[in-house]
Amino acid sequence: MLPRVVAAETLDHLPPDDPAARRSRRDLMRVHRVMGTRSIVARGWQALVPAPRAGGLLRILEIGAGDGSLLLRVARSLAPGWPRVQLCLLDRQDIVTPATLAGFAKMGWAVQVQAVDVLDWAARPPRPLPGGVFERWDLITTSLFLHHFQGDALDALLAAVAARSDRFFAVEPSRSWPALVGSHLVGAIGANAVTRQDAVLSVHAGFRGFEISARWPKAGGAWQLQEGTAGLFGHRFSATLAGGAP
Ligand SMILES: C[S@@+](CC[C@H](N)C(=O)[O-])C[C@H]1O[C@@H](n2cnc3c(N)ncnc32)[C@H](O)[C@@H]1O
Repeated sequence: MLPRVVAAETLDHLPPDDPAARRSRRDLMRVHRVMGTRSIVARGWQALVPAPRAGGLLRILEIGAGDGSLLLRVARSLAPGWPRVQLCLLDRQDIVTPATLAGFAKMGWAVQVQAVDVLDWAARPPRPLPGGVFERWDLITTSLFLHHFQGDALDALLAAVAARSDRFFAVEPSRSWPALVGSHLVGAIGANAVTRQDAVLSVHAGFRGFEISARWPKAGGAWQLQEGTAGLFGHRFSATLAGGAP
């Protein structure tokens, strides 16, 4: 069995405008195609939000959103049978392009970008909103992001997600031999040196079995958890709060 090893990835530390970083973000879209991430996320959301409220507004937060282009493809695949969405894209880097924002706007999704470290977001209490209520999301979602964290940081992140949402969906690298072999072959889809290195690191930091479920907070409500493989290279986790808003 592969032990879990979390190491700093190059893309996270390159300036957003560095040509190698731009190229690696484009590579990531090809990696998503191979992983089938768009349909994994779309199916995951549909399972978690089975009967969207007619005319309702769904509040979705993506953590570690990157440039938002994966979710734009998810949004396009769900339209038009999906409710109006108020979407917040949270990432340490402010890299969502005007074209991506325009793509969401065209579908009627209202998008806000929050450039913040997720651990700072997790450390502060839920934001008070008008009407005496606190920051709460119908769905928090993430892809290829949780694997950056381990130990107390991962626990704090999951606790903050559970405290602020009714549903959570994550797709991460699977820490498996097929994924490891695949990660060594990303050069075959034209990936640059940054992506080739980060792909291998991501698999070593990925998840297997019920590793995320084991860290999900025990207190704070009756959560239904599901975890397992997603395609050949992915690992999926979802959590639904029993009695959460429909
Ligand atoms: C591998 S990319 C995934 C992007 C996107 N979710 C996707 O699947 O295409 C990981 C993202 O996590 C962001 N990130 C890494 N550490 C972070 C942190 N502590 N807080 C917020 N964002 C972080 C990076 O800036 C990067 O955009």
